[in-house]
Amino acid sequence: MRCLSCGSENEAGRKFCGECGNALARPCPTCGTLNSPPVKFCGECGTALEGADQAAATAVPPAAETPERSSAAERRLVSVLFADLVGFTTLSEARDPEDVRDLLTRYFETARTLIARYGGTVEKFIGDAVMAVWGAPVANEDDAERAVRTALDLVRSVTELGAEVGAPDLRARAGILTGEAAVTIGAQGQGMVAGDMVNTASRIQSAAEPGSVFVGESTKRATEAAVGYEDAGPHELKGKAEPVQLWRALRITAGAGGSLKTGGLEAPFVGRDREMRMVKELFHASSDEGKAHLVSVVGLAGIGKSRFAWEFYKYFDGLPQDTWYQRGRCLAYGDGVTYSALAEMVRMRARIAEGEDQASATAKLTVSLEEHIPDPEERRWVEPRLAHLLGLEEGGARSRDDLFAAWRLFFERLAETGPTVMIFEDMQWADAALLDFIEYLLEWSRGHPLFVLTLARPELLDRRPFRRMPCRSCWRDSCPVCPRSSGPRSSSGRRACPCTPWRPFACCSTGGCWRKRGACTGRPKPSRPWRSRTLCTR
Ligand SMILES: Nc1ncnc2c1ncn2[C@@H]1O[C@H](COP(=O)(O)OP(=O)(O)OP(=O)(O)O)[C@@H](O)[C@H]1O
Ligand SMILES: [Mg+2]
Repeated sequence: MRCLSCGSENEAGRKFCGECGNALARPCPTCGTLNSPPVKFCGECGTALEGADQAAATAVPPAAETPERSSAAERRLVSVLFADLVGFTTLSEARDPEDVRDLLTRYFETARTLIARYGGTVEKFIGDAVMAVWGAPVANEDDAERAVRTALDLVRSVTELGAEVGAPDLRARAGILTGEAAVTIGAQGQGMVAGDMVNTASRIQSAAEPGSVFVGESTKRATEAAVGYEDAGPHELKGKAEPVQLWRALRITAGAGGSLKTGGLEAPFVGRDREMRMVKELFHASSDEGKAHLVSVVGLAGIGKSRFAWEFYKYFDGLPQDTWYQRGRCLAYGDGVTYSALAEMVRMRARIAEGEDQASATAKLTVSLEEHIPDPEERRWVEPRLAHLLGLEEGGARSRDDLFAAWRLFFERLAETGPTVMIFEDMQWADAALLDFIEYLLEWSRGHPLFVLTLARPELLDRRPFRRMPCRSCWRDSCPVCPRSSGPRSSSGRRACPCTPWRPFACCSTGGCWRKRGACTGRPKPSRPWRSRTLCTR
């Protein structure tokens, strides 16, 4: 039996194609005519096809939903994404069908996860192509941007997937168009949107080079605040009388809607794909499971720690879920620097400017607490302690335990309404008391989606082995994180790490795999209720 989607031959009696997973055409039990899914009645004789409902539900592989058509349709502004695999047919010819099916399944899963993560809806899968829609059934002002972010992530993920499964030439390409389409109200999945722009979006995808994302003029205009583009020139598209101007999406240049965009030109971010993927996954794990998580990035000056954090910000800010983002820098010298990074975070949350006068700062703090802590009694307790942190409280010594408890409560209340990211920069200058607070927060608030990212030069590890965990990949190559690795000793008694700029972050390990290897200290750490990772830049 031949699959109508990918053309592969399948054994008689199979319901789904072994090559692409699509439902196979079924012969009519009365007249034997082949009917392709999702029809419920034979097109030749009208006989009801056995198991029609079930087949229809699975006719579109794995993600798309059964269309629930309703007669009501309306015009809406939507963004339509088409993506497909390039070189997949050649690849499938040379491979075991089971491997091809596994690869396709992983591709479908990746596409579905990314589309859902950015709030889109899978319209349908057709062979190795996917069509997704933003703006229907629910419309958001940044629909076009979400579609482009999804496409960029999807194209990158497919390249990574290909490298992982030994198909380095595997690429995806994507096309996006924003415009008015007829949306069937109440429909989900296939048949949800229709109109000329849907066909044009599909043609744009066909025009895209392997590994690239092409968009039409309208999408470019709606997203250029946050996405960098390059002119891809006018293209003749089938069915279009005039050539259509297309744009190649290059990268994300800011947070959602252009937030925090830097003025100057930014060099492309290179060489940290693996680490970024890992941090993104850990962030999603933290937010999905509602658990605190620490990622500590350690690397030499100028190696790219702050840039890495910026790229991470641009990522999570573009997701539909609201994330509370706080960033603070530790200072090398000055008065009152003990908790300066933490104070900067609270000021950021309360929108208090650096050096703002006391009365206005106090008022803003009150407003912010009203927003984030619903219980008035808790508010009354937390407010003076946060004011103390910001230097707004007159006199009065307070115990550390008392202060830590109040500060922690503030971040917990935030995390109860959305994932909370805290980025501590320049941790090599962190006061011991701040390190204590971070550990205290992670320990006590472990049941909250707090994602703590610390950036430090290796000196920090000399001062305090902050959750030191030797890496899987480089402890044998000698690394400052791993005191027993081979190589010459530094003046501090550690083994030197042959640091080469632009080599990827080398280290990542969990307590679990560290213990399994029995590396380094030989003394297993007690298991941590919260999870941590160390990324060591080399
Ligand atoms: N992966 C990268 N791709 C492209 N440019 C990068 C990358 N990483 C860093 N850079 C660039 O290198 C410069 C220094 O990076 P960055 O400020 O992030 O270093 P750092 O590790 O935070 O240093 P410090 O320890 O002094 O804070 C920046 O201009 C940054 O944009
Ligand atoms: Mg930095």
